[in-house]
Amino acid sequence: MPTASDIKGTRASAGVRWLVPAKVVVFIAMLYPLARLVLLGATGGLGANPIEFITRSTGLWTLVYLCITLAVTPVRRMTGVAALLRFRRMIGLFAFFFAVLHFTTYIWFDKWFDVAAMLKDIGKRPFITVGFAAFVLLIPLAVTSPKVMVRKLGRRWQTLHRTIYLIAALAILHFWWMKAGKHDFELPKIYGSIVIVLLGWRAIAWLRTRIKRA
Ligand code: HEM
Repeated sequence: MPTASDIKGTRASAGVRWLVPAKVVVFIAMLYPLARLVLLGATGGLGANPIEFITRSTGLWTLVYLCITLAVTPVRRMTGVAALLRFRRMIGLFAFFFAVLHFTTYIWFDKWFDVAAMLKDIGKRPFITVGFAAFVLLIPLAVTSPKVMVRKLGRRWQTLHRTIYLIAALAILHFWWMKAGKHDFELPKIYGSIVIVLLGWRAIAWLRTRIKRA
């Protein structure tokens, strides 16, 4: 007869067996935007302004991955699939990875580390400062993402990682402001609505627990 701990162990290993290939699949899928850029670059498909193409693509994918990271908790609560939480860190780190690519494309390939040129550009396009603020705020979240840091920081980890809400809001402001110069609000409106829904869901969940406690 298997003991309770045997059953528990079997369940855990079954979970792990399912989780590892799933994580590999998600990891490979999340590399798609980079693979696409590499393929387009190799086949001359990046258009007349490849730097602009790469900046825009990496910026948009940073935002997409930020939204997916924010969506994990609500989707987990709605579906009851607790394993979804196991993917959150990886998706968040992908958001950071694309933010690094986005930032590097700008300071390296667009501005060639020319600080004067960057300052002039920021003067002309202040939305860049907002993007920079979002990027700087992402750094501590990426640095403290390993499990060992979660344990080390305890409750402070959760407080720190709440900055993701501010980062998402700054990312939308950055996007909106950038597109304002072109009077093209279609995508900022879509992503803005997604972020409002995701942050609104959290605000309601927070209010509910407050009311319950009271
Ligand atoms: C979390 C951080 C960031 C996010 C989520 C983000 C997101 C975006 C998005 C969605 C776009 C528009 C893409 C499109 O046109 O479809 C964009 C454009 C842009 N971003 Fe960011 N960004 C971030 C940080 C930064 C940083 C740190 C810089 C530079 C210091 C930067 C510089 C730019 C520039 C220059 C453009 C416009 C490119 C053009 O003129 O076509 N962004 N970003």
